[in-house]
Formats: sequence, C-alpha cells, structure tokens
Amino acid sequence: MVYDEKNTLLMTPGPVLFHPRVYQAMSRVAFHHRTPEYRKTFGECVSMMKKVMQTEKDVFIFAGSGTSAMDAAIVNCVSPEDKVLNLIGGKFGERWAEITETFGAKSIRLEVEWGRAIKAEMVSNAIDNEPDIKFVTMCHNETSTAVLNPAPEIAQITTEKGKLLIVDGITSVGGDYVYPDRWGIDILVTGSQKCLGCPPGLGMIMVGPKAWEEINGREKIPSYYLKLSSYKKAFEKSLDTPNTPAVSLVYGLHEALTMILEEGCENRVKRHRLMAEAVRSGMKALGLQLLAEKGYESNTMTALKYPGGVDDSAFRKGMQKHGVLVAGGQSQLKGKIFRVAHMNIIAEREVLLVLAMTGLVLRECGLKCESGAGVSAAQEIFLKNL
Ligand SMILES: Cc1ncc(COP(=O)(O)O)c(C=O)c1O
Repeated sequence: MVYDEKNTLLMTPGPVLFHPRVYQAMSRVAFHHRTPEYRKTFGECVSMMKKVMQTEKDVFIFAGSGTSAMDAAIVNCVSPEDKVLNLIGGKFGERWAEITETFGAKSIRLEVEWGRAIKAEMVSNAIDNEPDIKFVTMCHNETSTAVLNPAPEIAQITTEKGKLLIVDGITSVGGDYVYPDRWGIDILVTGSQKCLGCPPGLGMIMVGPKAWEEINGREKIPSYYLKLSSYKKAFEKSLDTPNTPAVSLVYGLHEALTMILEEGCENRVKRHRLMAEAVRSGMKALGLQLLAEKGYESNTMTALKYPGGVDDSAFRKGMQKHGVLVAGGQSQLKGKIFRVAHMNIIAEREVLLVLAMTGLVLRECGLKCESGAGVSAAQEIFLKNL
C-alpha cells in the first residue's frame, strides 16, 4: 500500500501533522532532568508557553494529556460543597461536568443542542438563577462540534458577577485568539498534540491570582500528582517539576513553540483563520452543510454533515485509502458528521488536497456532486489572500 501510517496526511483533531523539526528535537538524548542543561530548556519552554498563551500568569507543564490539565483545574480549585456551572454544547463541555461530579461538587448543567454555541446571555441568566455558583467551566473551541464559543463575552459576564472562569483551550490555544489576562479567564488549560504541534503527552495549565486564592484557602487537595502548589514551588525554586518530566516531549515542545514564535502568534492565527475559511467555502461548494451555528464556526476545525446516502465508515475508509485521515463524529454525532482539523502546520497544500479527496470520495460513495468544486472555491480564497 502506498499510503501507510508513515505518509498518511493527518487532518484529525490531534494528533495532528507535526513538523519534522519537532521529531528531530525529540530524538535528542533524554538528559537527566535535575541538571542545568535540562532546566534551561524547560525554563525556556515555560516562558515561550506564556507567550503563546498570551499570559503573564503562572503556567505549568506536566506529563499527561489535555484531560489531566482539566483534572488539575478542578481537583485543585473546587471543593465538594461548591456549585459549578458547566457550559455544555458537546463532548468536551460535558467532560467538565463529569470531572466536577467526580470530585463530588455540585454540577449545574447549562446545555445547548450540539452544534450550537453558548451565548453570554444564557450564562448570565443561569448565574442569576443560582447566585451561589462559584465557578463556570467552558470549552472554548468545542472539538466534537467545531463550534467556537464566545469566550470574551462569557468572561465579561463571569468577571462582572464575580465567578471564576475555567476554560478548556485545548483546540484554540496556538490556533485562534485566546487572551486570558485581557478577557478575565482564571484558569486556562491546553494540551500538546493540537494547535501547539507537539506529540501527545503534555498538559499545560495557566493559573491566575483568584484561582490561587481558592487553592491556597483549601485545607487539603485530594491529588498528589496534580497538586499545583508543588509545581509552583519546584519551578520557583529551581525551574524544576516535582516528579520526573517527560523529557523527550519537552524537547519536542521547545521546538514546536520556537516554530510558533518564529511564525508569530498573530500570523499563525490569521493563517488558521484563512485555512478555515477555505475549507468551509470548499466544502459548501461540494454541497455539504456545516454543523456549526452560523457565526460561531471554529477556525481550527470544521464539522460537516453527511449528505443523505453517504455512509460514515465508507467515506472515511475511502479517504484513508487515498492517504487522508479525517475524524468521525463522537457520541450522539457518530455516523452523522465527519470532522476535518486544520491545526498546526496545515496550510494551502493540505487544504486543497483534502477538498480534492472529499470530492473524489463523495463521488465514489455514490453522491452526484461536482467533485472539483471544492478545490476551485478554496483556490479563489487563496488567490485573494495569499
Ligand atoms: C476541546 C478538547 N478538550 C479536551 C480534550 C481531551 O484532551 P486529551 O485527549 O488530550 O485528554 C480534547 C481532545 O480531543 C479536546 O479537543
């Protein structure tokens, strides 16, 4: 087979396509971590991570997927007697509610239909109905539906009402605008394998002063590994982590963050937004409909509804046969949508390719469509903007 694991184009929402520079960086000897050599690399990683997260607040990096950073947010801040408003419009918004309940706190679910965005007004009303809510959790870019929730507007409400806002930026940080300090986000989490462009296995968490007040006011944190005060102490003392870090992944992250800063955060977001526009335009030209509510479409991925008669498994297998891997729907959206991620180094070449293959495979699946229309529509966008 021509297209094997080594040369299949990953247009999945993590792991994504990683640059060879990152793999090369990871092949360095994994040096002992309690040394000036490693500490220098790790210290630079944290400084670069703060730039990419657009924050002056504390940032910690540890071994674990994105969910470990979500776990850290709740286990450190939220006590069993606390009420947490969980904003849910998909699988990852829902995950916050599951974690909240895992630690015994009261979850109040504000749910919208999957594919729709959560509006600031809904959040305001929910808080007014239950004024003793202490925390609000949200997924900024809901990966299961490709909806970008309006974080700045929601943060304005939580700030006005004196609630702590905990945000999952796992598929927005490094790919779209996220300004935690300016917007008023108290905790922001992300993971390595999406827009940051480093293989899976690192979680990152930004912790602001109001969150620290909560953490420091608690008698006991019911976690050993994810206790944030241990990470703060170790880092401030000697640029260390409390336990053995994932040394090779940290080397990979160092290179990935260097590449982000070489491109420039603003340029990177603009590129992601342009790729998203081209994908949306191309997919619509092929006759496909977006799942996301108009005006709230994600800029790092796109979710498409299957047209009648196109089978999910046949479509995605067809794409893979031609060397492109896209993702299916999750939970209640299984079999109904497919998702194309355009994160990290995905650019015009990959976008044109995924649109060409989508047209071809839709035809192979029996759909009557103009199979080259997607490519033409995207080319028009690139001709105007590149
Ligand atoms: C928005 C969002 N939140 C959370 C997660 C969970 O991250 P991980 O699988 O790295 O634990 C994902 C993974 O796809 C995600 O996209």
